Amino acid sequence: MTCVLITGGAGFIGSHLAESLVKTDVNIKIIDDLSTGRIENLEAIKAESNVDVTVGNIIEDDKLDTMIEEADIVFHLAASVGVKNIVEYPLRSIMTNVKGTSRVLELAAKYHKKVLIASTSEVYGKNNNAPLNEDSERILGTTKVNRWCYSNSKALDEYIALAHYRTSGLPVIIVRLFNTCGPRQLGQYGMVLPNFVRKALQDKPIQVFGDGRQTRCFTHVNDVVVALTDLVEKNDSVGEIFNIGSSEEVSINELAAQVKKITQSKSEIVHIPYDQAYEKGFEDMRRRVPDISKIKRFIDWEPENNLENIIRDVIDYELIH
Ligand SMILES: NC(=O)c1ccc[n+]([C@@H]2O[C@H](COP(=O)([O-])OP(=O)(O)OC[C@H]3O[C@@H](n4cnc5c(N)ncnc54)[C@H](O)[C@@H]3O)[C@@H](O)[C@H]2O)c1
Repeated sequence: MTCVLITGGAGFIGSHLAESLVKTDVNIKIIDDLSTGRIENLEAIKAESNVDVTVGNIIEDDKLDTMIEEADIVFHLAASVGVKNIVEYPLRSIMTNVKGTSRVLELAAKYHKKVLIASTSEVYGKNNNAPLNEDSERILGTTKVNRWCYSNSKALDEYIALAHYRTSGLPVIIVRLFNTCGPRQLGQYGMVLPNFVRKALQDKPIQVFGDGRQTRCFTHVNDVVVALTDLVEKNDSVGEIFNIGSSEEVSINELAAQVKKITQSKSEIVHIPYDQAYEKGFEDMRRRVPDISKIKRFIDWEPENNLENIIRDVIDYELIH
C-alpha cells in the first residue's frame, strides 16, 4: 500500500488533501504542530485506520526521519502562512519555512523520496505583469519591509529543492499556489475571503485594505487538491515548477461587493490604509494573475469552480462554524 506523508496536514489545504486521499488505497501520515492548523480540520478522517496524525514540529521532531523513510511520497505543506502572520512574526516564519523545508528535503534525499513543495505566487513579488508564468521575474522590495521575507523564504525553499534535484536527482516538484480558498481557511492571519464572509454574516464593516482596486485570482481548494495529486502521479513533473491558480481576475472591491450581495448583508464596505492594516511602508502588488498553460499542458488541469462557487462554499462553512 502506498504511504503518503503530509506535513502541515491539519492545515487548510493539507486537511482537504488528506480527505481526498483517504478515499483511495493509501496510508496517510500527517505531521503538524497545530500552529495554524487544527485537529478539528481532520474530524471526518482522523479515526480512519489508514490515517495517522502526529502533533510535532518539522524543525525538530525526531519522528520525522522515520515518517519520511516510510513514505513513498511527501506533500510538504507545513509553513508559516498569511501576510499578517509573517509581518508579525518574521523570525518564526523564516525559521519554519527555511529550516523546516531544508530538513524535510534532507531527509527526503537520505531516503530518495518524491517530494512536492508548496511554494507561492508571492515569489513573484511586486511584478504586476499579467499573466505571470513560471519564468517571470521576481521583483522585490527592501528587506526592511517584512512582507518580503515570506517571498524570499519560499524562493529559498525552491532553490534548495532544485539543488537537491540537480545534485542527487531527488524527485522534487514545486508548485506555486495563487490565493487558494475554501472551507476551513482561517481569517485571522490576513486571508481575505474568510474575513469578508465572517464580517458580512455579522453585518459588521467589511474592511478592504488599500484602495481595493488591486486584483487577485481565487482558486477553490478542491481544484488545488486535484492538481497536487495529479502532479505527483506524472513522472514528467519531476524537477519542474508549476503555477496553480485560476485565471478569473477580480478586484478586492468587487470581491467585497459580491460577498455582500450573496450574503444579503447590511455590512458597510470600508477602506483601511495598508500601513494601518499591516506595517509602515507595507507594499502590495496591483495584480496577481497566473499563466496556467504549463500545468494544463502537463496534466490537463484547470479549475472547475468559479468565484461564486468558492464564495458560496465559504459561506456554507462559516454558517455552521
Ligand atoms: N492558502 C493559500 O492561498 C496559499 C497560497 C500560496 C501558498 N500556500 C502554501 O500552501 C501550504 C499550505 O497552506 P495553507 O493555506 O493550508 O495554510 P495553513 O496555515 O492552514 O497550513 C500550514 C500548516 O502547517 C502547520 N505548520 C506550520 N509550521 C509548522 C511546523 N514548524 N511544523 C509542523 N507543522 C507546521 C500549521 O499548523 C498548518 O496546519 C503552505 O506551504 C503555504 O505557504 C498557500
